Amino acid sequence: MEKIWWQGEIVYQIYPKSFSDSNHDGIGDLKGITSKLDYLNDLGITMLWICPIYPSPMDDNGYDISDYFGVAPEFGTLQDLEELIEEAIKSGIKIILDLVVNHTSDEHNWFKDVLANPNSKYKDYYVIKEGKTKPTNWRSVFGGSVWEKIPGREEYYFHSFGKKQPDLNWENPELRQEIYKMVNWWLDKGISGFRIDAITFIKKDLAWKNLPVDGVDGLSKVTKSGRNMPGIDVFLKELQRETFSKHHCVTVAEAPGVGYDELGQFIGEDGFFDMIFDFKYADLDVKSGSEWFVRLPWTYRELNDKIMDSQEAIQRYGWGANFIENHDQPRATTKYLQKKARNSDAVKTLGAMYFFLKGTPFIYQGQELGVINFERETVSDFNDLSSIDQYQRSINEGLTPEEALHIVNLRSRDNSRTPFPWSAEENGGFSTATPWLKVTESYTEINAAQVGVEGSIYEFYKEMIDFRQHGKYFETLVYGDIARLPLESDEMIAYKRIGQTETIYAYFNFGNEVLNLPNSRAKEIIFETAKGTKLENGQIQLPANTGILVKS
Ligand code: GLC
Ligand code: CA
Repeated sequence: MEKIWWQGEIVYQIYPKSFSDSNHDGIGDLKGITSKLDYLNDLGITMLWICPIYPSPMDDNGYDISDYFGVAPEFGTLQDLEELIEEAIKSGIKIILDLVVNHTSDEHNWFKDVLANPNSKYKDYYVIKEGKTKPTNWRSVFGGSVWEKIPGREEYYFHSFGKKQPDLNWENPELRQEIYKMVNWWLDKGISGFRIDAITFIKKDLAWKNLPVDGVDGLSKVTKSGRNMPGIDVFLKELQRETFSKHHCVTVAEAPGVGYDELGQFIGEDGFFDMIFDFKYADLDVKSGSEWFVRLPWTYRELNDKIMDSQEAIQRYGWGANFIENHDQPRATTKYLQKKARNSDAVKTLGAMYFFLKGTPFIYQGQELGVINFERETVSDFNDLSSIDQYQRSINEGLTPEEALHIVNLRSRDNSRTPFPWSAEENGGFSTATPWLKVTESYTEINAAQVGVEGSIYEFYKEMIDFRQHGKYFETLVYGDIARLPLESDEMIAYKRIGQTETIYAYFNFGNEVLNLPNSRAKEIIFETAKGTKLENGQIQLPANTGILVKS
């Protein structure tokens, strides 16, 4: 495919509530982000994705927007945001914002009017059905029915996610125009694009039929009839035409439920978006992203195969957004390395493994420090509404409270939402006030005091970013094709990147033994996560917890 500017970016994702608290009220804010631009610049990232910063009751931490045109007072003002954009541009950092248009908050003025007024002109902006009982047996992503009764009326409104997140009715052209106006308004402010939230939920099956029950709650997953339904292409094409295509911007969609055979439409040359996140290997340890209580065993060989399936499919049509962590996932260290989560060699190997895949790398705040999951002892320490729901559902599905707590600890979205550990000081140096969410217990050891410390995970990420962005293999590492390599062990991951002038082979050993690769074509090691690899006449001896890039 043709070279485009966003292919060469390194994106860093910020969860504003937890990144940096400038006024010490326990909540991260925009001035806090601005004050850390030097840190981000030092790391070498080129673009920020900031999770929702709009006014919100924060039931789902900003993914429940009550005003599309403002900034949440706890995060600052519109002026603070404009200052951040301006300062970031000066440091060579672009900014993309989160676009949440499947639903609003129930405290958005449109929805408030619907509740107050049986004949509200905004009624058709939402998905509302008349009836004495719930129209279908679908279960929302965060648990319970997708239908909620409107008090005092025989009417139900639909929510794919939480009760305080009523879905917008994309079937209504007037609503769609309001959304496009808003999108263009933000793009005109100088942001570089959007990460687009849960976008495949905007098209539902309008037959509104009951589905076969799939849980002890008597309900059935909303995703079967409420996500990526036929006809979604009409909405997405229009959205792209009316907004993104008029700007020099980048779009990264969260588009769950899109099959590899549909990628041409989503990210092809004339696709709805520039990139999408693929969750197929992020959820390899659980039955699905909304069923944490069904844990699945996995091997690195399976991880390798899933990653390569994804890479090959995406490469066929367009471009990918590579990640191992985000604000909905637990820490990658704990998930992918398990007992080795604190082994810094293994953490670096995991980092390099996904970083040199084909696509634009996304780094989630704290990943560059090797932050690990927490271990909460009571469910009351959780804030995330899906963690609380999954705890309850696990118990309803037959698990003991201890088992349920264990499962939620492993998977909770709060794991990645804990305040950023800036130092070993109280509250990780995040705030002098009690933070909105308890810090993770490991902050005294795993924190940003790593900056400048030789051999640290932070310095490793910095070196790796520099190697991709400014090294002599930039062309191959960014634009080169990707292909599978045979595996000599169940505990390795391997691939090659094929450039115009060279082929780079990448090997990662997640096992506990030295890995022998007898028939490689390697002549020269060009990058290593740790010292100690032996290379002689094409024979490689790769130590445990080590990854290398070699050239033939
Ligand atoms: C997306 C977001 C998640 C949010 C949900 C509802 O999956 O990433 O954080 O809870 O959409 O907006
Ligand atoms: Ca604050």
